Amino acid sequence: MFHHDGERAVAAAAAKYGTMFGVSSLGTTSLEEARRISSGPQVYQFYFHKDRGLNREMMARAKQAGVEAMMLTVDSITGGNRERDKRTGFAIPFRLNVAGVSQFAIKPAWAFNYFRGGPFRLPQLENHVDMGRGAMSISHYFTEMLDPSLDWDDVAAMVREWGGQFCLKGVMSAADAQRAAEIGCTGVVVSNHGGRQLDGSRSAFDQLAEVVDAAGDRLDVLMDGGVQRGTHVLKALSLGAKAVGVGRYYLFPLAAAGQAGVELALELMRHELERDMRLMGCASIAQLRPGNLRFRARTPG
Ligand SMILES: Cc1cc2nc3c(=O)[nH]c(=O)nc-3n(C[C@H](O)[C@H](O)[C@H](O)COP(=O)(O)O)c2cc1C
Repeated sequence: MFHHDGERAVAAAAAKYGTMFGVSSLGTTSLEEARRISSGPQVYQFYFHKDRGLNREMMARAKQAGVEAMMLTVDSITGGNRERDKRTGFAIPFRLNVAGVSQFAIKPAWAFNYFRGGPFRLPQLENHVDMGRGAMSISHYFTEMLDPSLDWDDVAAMVREWGGQFCLKGVMSAADAQRAAEIGCTGVVVSNHGGRQLDGSRSAFDQLAEVVDAAGDRLDVLMDGGVQRGTHVLKALSLGAKAVGVGRYYLFPLAAAGQAGVELALELMRHELERDMRLMGCASIAQLRPGNLRFRARTPG
């Protein structure tokens, strides 16, 4: 919905910059097609559905496509209260309402490409979500299709069935990171879903250090949420993250300029990283340590 080339543009830009790319269960490009475009390591973001057959089918497909890492999102087993979506009537695919028509009118090139692009598809969920039957709100998908009873036993079973790199996305506490390691996960993403789910949730940055501590060398710890600058990446890596993820940092340039926009975002980030590391006196990523950072003293009380 951001751009008519969708994940194809993002996969191509990621491949060019040698960075990892994640395909969502709700992606509009099939993971097989994304795989063909991007030769780099690929993560498959997975939601846990009530339909266990669908879960098994999706995992088998990902294996077949040669996905390197399975990533189960655990912070969205029900929809967040997205009031702006309710106000605008946001649904997938877009529904034409009064607010929507005026938005389309001020972005004619985008609107032209969107409508020229053929029927809206969710290829990861093909045969399970019938887009022909009309628009679906995100909250409807979360409520109707995802399983809110997802528990540690379900995850452990998935980890066994997958048999490779398995990462939990949306872990925000040391206790959950420890549990993830105990059931055989190989990574966690410290994330509050970009602040889109639980209002008042702490930020991923705030939780990163304690999760890194709890993980030790049993898990790779990644983080996302609010990463928009080279210095943000350096802070996360200094706190012990192996990598960071970005959402809106590439989505907005994608909307503005497609693949070229995502490439420019990655180019800027690389320059910032290199310049900032020089300015910090760090010659390698290995030199990024908590000692590089100054922590604000906790306010008593
Ligand atoms: C438009 C949009 C769609 C998203 N879709 C998914 C998704 O399908 N699965 C998922 O695990 N996270 C999804 N996320 C959350 C991101 O994976 C990520 O956690 C978040 O965007 C990080 O924050 P940032 O946007 O500040 O970088 C989405 C985020 C945005 C903005």
